[in-house]
Amino acid sequence: MNSTFGWKLLLALLLSSISNLNAQTAMISAYARNATSLNGDWKVIVDPADAGVYRKVWLEIKPLKKTDFFEYSFEEGPSLHVPGDFNTQLPELFYMESIVWYKKTFIYSAKENRRIFLHFGAVNYLADVYCNGAHIGSHEGGFTPFQFELTDKVKPGENSIVVKVNSQRKKDGIPGMGFDWFNYGGITRDVNLIEVNKTYIEDYFIQLKKNSQNEVLGWVTLNGDHVSQKISIGIPELRINFTTTTDDNGRAVVNFSSKFKLWSPQNPKLYRVIITSETDTVEDEIGFRNIEARGRELFLNGQPVFLKGVNIHEERPIAPARACTEADAMILLTWAKELGCNLVRLAHYPHSEHMVRLAEKMGLMVWDEIPAYQHVEFSTPGFGAKMQLVMNEMIRRDRNRCNVVIWSLSNETYTTTPERTLILIDLTKKCRQMDSTRLITSVLSNQLYKDNTFHVWDTLCRHLDIICINEYLGWYVPWQGRPSETKWEFVVEKPLIISEFGGEAKLGSNIGLKDEASSWSEEYQEDIYKKQIELFGVTPNLVGLCPWILVDYRSPVRMHPVYQNGFNRKGLLTEYGEKKKAWYVMKSFYESHPDGVGVPRRGGRD
Ligand code: GCU
Repeated sequence: MNSTFGWKLLLALLLSSISNLNAQTAMISAYARNATSLNGDWKVIVDPADAGVYRKVWLEIKPLKKTDFFEYSFEEGPSLHVPGDFNTQLPELFYMESIVWYKKTFIYSAKENRRIFLHFGAVNYLADVYCNGAHIGSHEGGFTPFQFELTDKVKPGENSIVVKVNSQRKKDGIPGMGFDWFNYGGITRDVNLIEVNKTYIEDYFIQLKKNSQNEVLGWVTLNGDHVSQKISIGIPELRINFTTTTDDNGRAVVNFSSKFKLWSPQNPKLYRVIITSETDTVEDEIGFRNIEARGRELFLNGQPVFLKGVNIHEERPIAPARACTEADAMILLTWAKELGCNLVRLAHYPHSEHMVRLAEKMGLMVWDEIPAYQHVEFSTPGFGAKMQLVMNEMIRRDRNRCNVVIWSLSNETYTTTPERTLILIDLTKKCRQMDSTRLITSVLSNQLYKDNTFHVWDTLCRHLDIICINEYLGWYVPWQGRPSETKWEFVVEKPLIISEFGGEAKLGSNIGLKDEASSWSEEYQEDIYKKQIELFGVTPNLVGLCPWILVDYRSPVRMHPVYQNGFNRKGLLTEYGEKKKAWYVMKSFYESHPDGVGVPRRGGRD
């Protein structure tokens, strides 16, 4: 870890209420390492009463005498597949937001001079991890990777890992108590044992320097007891072999230039990049591109770009469950491409690494977001530090993915919440210190819409690179005049993305009823989209759109027994991939706007 940042983070964490103990921010490029997968069936104990701590189930004690008995057993209980949520694997767990203990064994043969790490892609929400009967640490946060070092904890032969997973909502969690998606609990992403040498490449940042199209400016960091080493960065296709040396803290600056074929949605070019130290080598596929906000416009590789986005939740289509494989990601991203998108907003939390990497290969820009959603409790002592930790874990994992163009630090938080604005300003600054090459935002709602004028007044906008507004005109907020006569006022002139709009429709419901929201008809939803398109035409600064949402998704707060039945029906597609009428409106709008061309204006200030 970068040393200044590392110290500040450590200090902040000491002051915070985060329940991470010994969990380390995961090493970069876990999938490129020498790894043994621990995916597959894990034995489980379901523990909604939180009795497992009292019974010390991680000790897995077996009866020795005739009078002994123990009121738990992993071996004789059910199994659950990892990665995957527990809710959809056993019917009795469907609505459970509580504790499940997971257990897996593995065989280890000791190797000289090697270190071994247990790496989790994500566990929702709290994870307490035990190795061979001893508690080794805990991690809070449901959507980012973390690791524990097991080097001194494993023994030759059979070893056991027990994980207490608790998906209960927390008032001071990120997200907090209320959110409009399904709270899938469990070990929801891949688990790997990763072996590395005593000193290994812990992290690197190899991307174009801010505002440059040919100069890479980044760094490499080592972790171990021999951190002063020669480093080389090789890109064979470009005949680049940049060499340098790490300092006493194990950090080296990486700086070289080349004539890159730049990554873009039309040409998602990635290069094989080999990062080598004296004791480690990691290979990655890295692309180079430049994204910039200038005035009221966005530029990708120096050309104006319009972000044709769509919101996506990480939910598996057809048989809804937490999406966790590359195959799941392929279905969702293929639909986004079919809609004509060049961007996906991965709402409202970091999706799996499979999703981000596949999007990169498919030519889709990515909007990454931390789950600071609506009513999170900013006033809890240490909350800012907890947000910083989640942000750090997200950025560490994804900052070498050139398709990530936006870091979003919150969604629809309320200006009236004490501490909110100060914490978000501070977090925005810290994000920029970590990575100034992406656009940084926080998504706003609740702006003033009066006399058919949209007043974007939130002063947080002054600190952001782009303004993102969720507006829902025509659904939650009735139109106050002709959409094509809407006016906009901004507290500060910056590029604008309409990051959510739309309305609900149940496929095939009340066919033809175009003017009653409660018909949940496709025609009503279609009409919202048509009017939205009129609005876009008079929206100055507009550089991108993200309709809410690509696919209908599970949400227990959606309670209408006929039309919703536990699903948010704002999808352009049903969960089976069936197209609603609004899909065609959005698709033809996107198809009529080739990349690089803004929305034609019919009025407004442009
Ligand atoms: C919000 C929120 C989404 C939510 C949507 C809706 O704006 O950001 O997460 O689901 O509204 O009401 O459907």
